[in-house]
Amino acid sequence: MVETSDEWITSRTGIKERHIAAAHESTSDFAAKAALKAMANAGLNGDQIDLIIVATVTPDMPFPSTACQVQQKIGALRAVAFDIEAACSGFIYGLEIARQFIANHACETVLVIGADKLSSIVDWTDRNTCVLFGDGAAAAIVQHRPNSAGVMAAVMGADGSKGSVLCVPAGGSRLPASTETLIKRQHFIRMNGKETFKNAVQAMQAAGEEVLRRCGLAVSDLACIIPHQANRRIIDAVAERLEARPEQVFVNVDRFGNTSAASVGIALSEAVETGRVQRGDLVLLLVFGAGFTWGAAVVEW
Ligand SMILES: CC(C)(COP(=O)(O)OP(=O)(O)OC[C@H]1O[C@@H](n2cnc3c(N)ncnc32)[C@H](O)[C@@H]1OP(=O)(O)O)[C@@H](O)C(=O)NCCC(=O)NCCS
Repeated sequence: MVETSDEWITSRTGIKERHIAAAHESTSDFAAKAALKAMANAGLNGDQIDLIIVATVTPDMPFPSTACQVQQKIGALRAVAFDIEAACSGFIYGLEIARQFIANHACETVLVIGADKLSSIVDWTDRNTCVLFGDGAAAAIVQHRPNSAGVMAAVMGADGSKGSVLCVPAGGSRLPASTETLIKRQHFIRMNGKETFKNAVQAMQAAGEEVLRRCGLAVSDLACIIPHQANRRIIDAVAERLEARPEQVFVNVDRFGNTSAASVGIALSEAVETGRVQRGDLVLLLVFGAGFTWGAAVVEW
């Protein structure tokens, strides 16, 4: 579709494989699948979920929310449901919102989902972006546990002055869909890759250092560091700046590409399933995305 090569993609991004949803699948379809898997792992049924938070930039439609779509698909009809939009940072934003609801005793059980069908907003004629993104969903059940720290601390940040560096210009209230916006391909992702790259490295390093400081921890205390899986070179640069050992850093961008809000959730899930993260381990999650937005969280698994 574009002039590129496997050699270019591999050497500049580290990506070898991606997953693309079927045309008939919407974000809530695979968000619900991830949710049901998380609920089965936790031994919960739909009635026990108090709140559903879906982080996504590719909702099924502008409204109703994707969280409401998921609610009926998983039979969680008691749950409050809403979406949040923090692009690739959505999973940590969602986790922190869940933590606050639980800390305030407003909820007992929160379902946090990061899900995106980025293939639906990728411009397959733009080689700067079309080689990077994949589709996916990840879900986590968040509850209070008396004998475990869980999400120990999280930091989040945003810089709206950089909004145009990575965006989908049309389809909202600023540029509603029209023949002109379609012709100009303004419903697809636009990105200044170099600017995004530089800001991603700086923000994830700073957020990581800040959250560790708040927890009184050093990088050497961490069993695993799970950065947003956007580009292998970004991951390596962040790891180097944090002075992490290579074996501390979890990488699966080679097999999934950038799955946006699902990225660190999918990586955490894989790390747990493969035994890379064990009960009691301290894990650092790092995210960065459009907005710009960023965040970091320390989790005792
Ligand atoms: C997109 C990205 C991989 C590009 O890598 P880069 O090393 O910065 O490459 P550049 O932008 O300098 O482009 C170098 C050249 O490769 C070309 N190029 C871009 N994409 C290409 C592709 N898929 N295949 C071949 N060549 C490509 C560019 O056109 C440019 O050519 P030019 O010098 O003739 O203009 C990198 O900037 C990146 O990963 N940025 C962050 C992306 C991201 O994480 N986004 C989501 C954040 S949540």
